[in-house]
Amino acid sequence: MARLSLAACAVAFHLCLLISSSASLRWLSDKSAAVTTPGHGLGHVRTRSAYHFQPAKNWQNGPMYHNGLYHFFYQYNPDGVTWGNGNLSWGHSVSVDLVNWFALDAALQPSRSFDANGCWSGSATILPDGSPVMLYTGIDARGDQVQNVAFPKNASDPLLVEWVKPEYNPVIPVPADIKRDDFRDPSTAWLGADGLWRIAVAARVHDVGGATLIYRSKDFLRWERNADPLYLAHAAGMVECPDLFPVSEPGVEVGLPASGAGARHVLKMSVMDTVQDYYVVGSYDDTADTFVPEDDDDCRSWRRLDYGHVYASKSFFDPSKNRRVLWGWANESDSVADDLVRGWSGVQSLCGEKGASVPGSVGPFGLLVMASGDMQEHTAVFFRVFRQNDKYKVLMCTDLSRSSTRDGVYKPPYGAFVDMDIEAHSGIISLRTLVDHSVVESFGGGGRTCITARVYPDHVVNGNSHLYVFNNGTGAVKVSSLDAWEMATATVNVLPDGLIAASSVSRAQAY
Ligand SMILES: *[C@@H]1O[C@H](CO)[C@@H](O)[C@H](O)[C@H]1NC(C)=O
Ligand SMILES: *[C@@H]1O[C@H](CO)[C@@H](O)[C@H](O)[C@H]1NC(C)=O
Ligand SMILES: *[C@@H]1O[C@H](CO)[C@@H](O)[C@H](O)[C@H]1NC(C)=O
Ligand SMILES: *[C@@H]1O[C@H](CO)[C@@H](O)[C@H](O)[C@H]1NC(C)=O
Repeated sequence: MARLSLAACAVAFHLCLLISSSASLRWLSDKSAAVTTPGHGLGHVRTRSAYHFQPAKNWQNGPMYHNGLYHFFYQYNPDGVTWGNGNLSWGHSVSVDLVNWFALDAALQPSRSFDANGCWSGSATILPDGSPVMLYTGIDARGDQVQNVAFPKNASDPLLVEWVKPEYNPVIPVPADIKRDDFRDPSTAWLGADGLWRIAVAARVHDVGGATLIYRSKDFLRWERNADPLYLAHAAGMVECPDLFPVSEPGVEVGLPASGAGARHVLKMSVMDTVQDYYVVGSYDDTADTFVPEDDDDCRSWRRLDYGHVYASKSFFDPSKNRRVLWGWANESDSVADDLVRGWSGVQSLCGEKGASVPGSVGPFGLLVMASGDMQEHTAVFFRVFRQNDKYKVLMCTDLSRSSTRDGVYKPPYGAFVDMDIEAHSGIISLRTLVDHSVVESFGGGGRTCITARVYPDHVVNGNSHLYVFNNGTGAVKVSSLDAWEMATATVNVLPDGLIAASSVSRAQAY
């Protein structure tokens, strides 16, 4: 049996269920439990993640890939651990592998009238000549949200340490039909066939609702608003961090937003009133710059990027691996948090009522992670299969109700259905779970459903953590394969000594 430091590990397994076409369900065999063993006492750093990026403190934002390095910018309040009213800056870290990170000086700090009260979220765009440009929201001297531009002081500096904010900022002042504090989060820009750049900016338009507005420019200096928004979310209030990108489909290149005539696109929005990230596939008209979702028009009923605790995600295109990478923010939740669940409370209560200890015919089965020796503390990541109208439905849950014996910790059951036809998959479902001290991140059915949770178990201070596979249903489940890896601790936010040599190696490999 493998010995693992189970405070930081990754587990992947396929479960194989045999589903007959009759109403009852049967299992291939009734093997359950693969049990693994000790972890370390982790002392005061026990909830700090080992391989999930954390800045020295505070919020995260705005990634890009440039010249062999991943750059990550994040909201950083130099004056405290809360959001703060002023002085919000852009912290800056770089990495060659998205795992180990090196800290640099703050990239943007309030210094001018157009950002005197804070440098808020924004996005990087890589221009055709390879140099980056940054658009960000400044809180100006009057307290208005305005959009600003910044360029690297020396585009040949591989670390892009210093950024310059031109005198002509702000490039987009707050429009008359939008309240001063409802206008923010410029997206990465994309180039239209007409040679103009486009960005989406989140806003709440007076008497209309949450919107992603389109601005066009040929030079990043003069921006003109398109009369129609990209998308208008009548039902939702303020939205944040809009993101538009093409879907990878056979014969269609992934990459920058406007690429590929006929490509379908994904629109993602973070909705403030539910504190959730939603996305939908739809068609983007790259002449009118409008987006029509293929789904319901209330964005709060779109799919969620994550059915746990993630907000304000941002994606970027990584040309070195020809992939889109998405960053989400899973903030601390060890103090009592609000009810995050409006809009999906039905499924959530299903996971609550039918928790890991309530047997059914098929399931609950899955993993118990961060489990104490006496099982007083454990986090269950599990599936249940239901039959409904001659179809099987797969429910995936992460139940935090027993994750910690501490009081005052947010311990909801999270859950969602997995959008898959289990019969067409020969009754096999996969689960991949990443455990990182206080983060339990699970990808069910090949990532169709993601649930990220923050857990705060007490036993890890001086006890071992255990990992179990369990089946509490009456039917059998076969574990067709199970792999578990102990994860090393990543280097996060050390000084970038020797990084340039390393990055030139990776650049050589990348091209
Ligand atoms: C911003 O920082 C300056 C200098 O440290 C400080 O005087 C000021 O009070 C801060 N502003 C806010 C709103 O925290
Ligand atoms: C810009 O950065 C490059 C690479 O680090 C350096 O060689 C050059 O001297 C820098 N230019 C200026 C004006 O600082
Ligand atoms: C974490 O996020 C939730 C919403 O996702 C929010 O209610 C809570 O206040 C946040 N906690 C902190 C410490 O920022
Ligand atoms: C399985 O069911 C038993 C009996 O109800 C219960 O004691 C146990 O905690 C359950 N297992 C899990 C993982 O919830």
